Amino acid sequence: MNINVIISPCGVEELYFTNKSIVIIDVLRASNTIINALQNGAKEIIPVAAVEFAVKISGGMFDGRFLLGGERNTKKIDGFALGNSPLEYCEEVVEGKTIVLYTTNGTQAITKAKFSEFLTVCSFANLNAIAKELIKRENDFEILCAGRNNTLSLEDLICAGSLIEKISKSKDDLNLTDSAKVSVELNKSMGKNIKEMLAETYHAKLLIENGFEDDITFCSQLNSSDIVPLFIDNALKLP
Ligand code: MLT
Repeated sequence: MNINVIISPCGVEELYFTNKSIVIIDVLRASNTIINALQNGAKEIIPVAAVEFAVKISGGMFDGRFLLGGERNTKKIDGFALGNSPLEYCEEVVEGKTIVLYTTNGTQAITKAKFSEFLTVCSFANLNAIAKELIKRENDFEILCAGRNNTLSLEDLICAGSLIEKISKSKDDLNLTDSAKVSVELNKSMGKNIKEMLAETYHAKLLIENGFEDDITFCSQLNSSDIVPLFIDNALKLP
């Protein structure tokens, strides 16, 4: 099984993803927002690459079954019902709803990989569930880290390494690219205490400055969910 890690969507063309199996990781916070929304009964999440597009899509939906969510510079966008704190996506708010989601990096990565044959979203929360799915599929796959502002994010790379390490416990035929090997080594050296590791990242410091300290704790949960989101017909949903 060949595994590659792409440290940021920057510089990779949309067509690169055609017919591939892709795992998107955006630990802080889009992956966790998506996982928690689906866990709490959201019907689907439509990820979009521009705020204007989110507004346009939602313009045709007047029946109260959709919500606009997302962030700009970590904060809720004017006119949107929800920000990008996974804690906002509780059952009472999201059950049965279609969520149109825009985030600075996470939804950009997802929409960039829209031509892939298989696309899922991972964080520490659903790491075991994603590992199980990838082992079952037995296909080569690539992990696309959302990163931040066109460069890498430590937390995404460590989560990628943790996912590969988990899979390596069940499969001994893994062929890793250099970036995949780097992620595994980073996880070994820095991934033992997820909460402490996250708190030291640039992104976490920004979130704390903006009052989202609880999100760091939430996003550090390991294997708290069995959710495997699948990107089907332009939306993330459960199979
Ligand atoms: C992103 O997609 O850039 C993030 O999820 C940003 C955030 O809400 O912290």
